[in-house]
Amino acid sequence: MKKKLLFVCLGNICRSPSAEAVMNGFLKINMLDEYFECDSAGTGGWHVGERADSRMRTHAAKRDYDLTSIARQFNPNRDFDEFDIILGMDTQNVSDLEGMARNKNDLDKIKSMTDFCTRYTHYHSVPDPYYGGADGFELVLDILEDACEGLLKQIDR
Ligand code: 4NP
Repeated sequence: MKKKLLFVCLGNICRSPSAEAVMNGFLKINMLDEYFECDSAGTGGWHVGERADSRMRTHAAKRDYDLTSIARQFNPNRDFDEFDIILGMDTQNVSDLEGMARNKNDLDKIKSMTDFCTRYTHYHSVPDPYYGGADGFELVLDILEDACEGLLKQIDR
């Protein structure tokens, strides 16, 4: 059975769809895509049904990541059962997820994305790029590439 990873941010239009695309890219390169499945969601519902932010898509495309996901809101009653690892992009996402956990089993699935960084270790959140400039979108991708590399090394198929 495939191991299922869910990446979670606030809006599901910038950071978590990027995490999903970066991880899918890494899995494919390492020929591990048949063992894992990735998805993303937002704790908020403002952007449900939308494609990823066009600025985020443009920056990701420059690194050959194709952001195809459509925003959806995290659903505790389905997602905690469906997924094996649930990764919050920032400390607020992690605490919001913890607040929605129904039991210890749910809580044990929640991880912070930046805990898997080996180079960007001074970041405890993937910073929200929504109200900032181009540098913020590049930083998101830099941190996510680092974290996905670490995640890939740590997860067992
Ligand atoms: P994300 O970025 O959580 O990385 O998708 C945001 C997108 C939208 C908003 C905030 C953050 N918003 O406030 O609408």
